[in-house]
Amino acid sequence: MNATINLEKKHFPVLLDELISIISPLYGGTFIDCTFGQGGYSREILSNKNNKVVALDRDPETLIEAKKLLKKFKGRFRFENEKFSNINALKISDQNLKAIIFDLGYSTSQINDSKKGLSFNSKGKLNMRLGKNLISADDVINKLSYEKLNKVFKFFGDEQKSKIIARNIIKKRLKKKILSEDLVNIIESVKKKYSKTNKSTKVYQSLRILVNNEVSELIFGLINSFKLLPVGGILAVVTFHSLEDRIVKFFFKNYSDEKKSSRYLPELKENKKIFKVINKKPITPSSQEIKLNPSSRSAKLRCVQKIYNHKNFDEFLKKFEYLLKIEEFADQL
Ligand SMILES: C[S@@+](CC[C@H](N)C(=O)[O-])C[C@H]1O[C@@H](n2cnc3c(N)ncnc32)[C@H](O)[C@@H]1O
Repeated sequence: MNATINLEKKHFPVLLDELISIISPLYGGTFIDCTFGQGGYSREILSNKNNKVVALDRDPETLIEAKKLLKKFKGRFRFENEKFSNINALKISDQNLKAIIFDLGYSTSQINDSKKGLSFNSKGKLNMRLGKNLISADDVINKLSYEKLNKVFKFFGDEQKSKIIARNIIKKRLKKKILSEDLVNIIESVKKKYSKTNKSTKVYQSLRILVNNEVSELIFGLINSFKLLPVGGILAVVTFHSLEDRIVKFFFKNYSDEKKSSRYLPELKENKKIFKVINKKPITPSSQEIKLNPSSRSAKLRCVQKIYNHKNFDEFLKKFEYLLKIEEFADQL
C-alpha cells in the first residue's frame, strides 16, 4: 500500500510509507502518536479499522485537526494536549499497546505561524513557544548572560560564531530591546561569508531547543515510553537535526543487541540488552519525497523493538548531562 500524500492541504507526513511498513505487522492494537501535528500519522494508522490511536501534542492549536479525527474515528481515537515527556501521566494501561511514535520538530503550519515566531523570517517580539512553556525566546535573548548565550548557541546550535554573536547581543540590548529582525541583523553582520543555508538557522535552532526544552523532552520522552511499552512493542523516532539524532542513536544503540558486551564478564541483569535494532542505518526520505517536500531532506527514521523490561538509564543520563545543564539556564529567567 502506498500511503497517500495530501497534496491539496500541502501537508506532507515525513517518511510515512517507511514508518507504516515497519509498524503495520503489529496492526490490531493501540499506537501512541507522541507528535500529532496535522494528524498525518494518526489518520493513516486509523485507516485500519483494527487500530486505536492515542495522540498527544503540546501545541493547543493541533486540537482543531484532532477534533476532526475524534469525530471520524469515534471510540478509536483519543487526543491529549500534553508534552510527551509526561506520557506516563496519561494513564495508558492498554495491554494491547503496539508502538510509540515520535516525529520530532515542527510542522510547516507552525513554522509559518507568525505568532509563534519560530522562523527567522518573523518580525517583532521573539517568541518560539510551542505550548506549555515557561519562557520565550524574548526572555532568552534579552535577559540571559553572555556566557550562557554563548553556550546555548554553541551546544544547541553548533554555531561557530557563538561568542561574537552573544557579545553583540549584549551590546545591542543595552540600547534597546532585541526583536526578531534585530537578531537576524546581528547574526548577518557577524557572518559575512557566503553560506548555503540561512545564516540565522543555527541560532534560531538553538533558541527553539532551549525555549521548548527539547533535550529533556526527548530524553524523558524516550525513557518514559520505554517504561510504558510492553516487550515486543516498537519505538520509532523521526529526527530532524543532529543533536536530537545523536540522543536517539545513543539510546537505541547503547541498549541494543548492537553493542558488544565482554565475553569474559557474567551478564548482569542491568547489562541485558533491552532493544533489537530494526534498521541498522537510519531510513531517510527518497529523492521523490525530498522533491515534493524539501524540508524532509534532513529527516532520519530510527526504530527498535523492545525485547527486555529491566533497565536503569544512568549511562544515558550521564552522557547528555551537559546538555540538560544548559537547559537549566532557562530556570533562572
Ligand atoms: C513534525 S510535527 C508532526 C507531524 C505529524 N507526524 C503529522 O503527520 O502531521 C511535530 C509535532 O510535535 C509537536 N511537539 C514537539 N515537541 C513536543 C513535545 N515535547 N510534546 C508533545 N508534542 C510535541 C509539535 O507541536 C508538532 O505539532
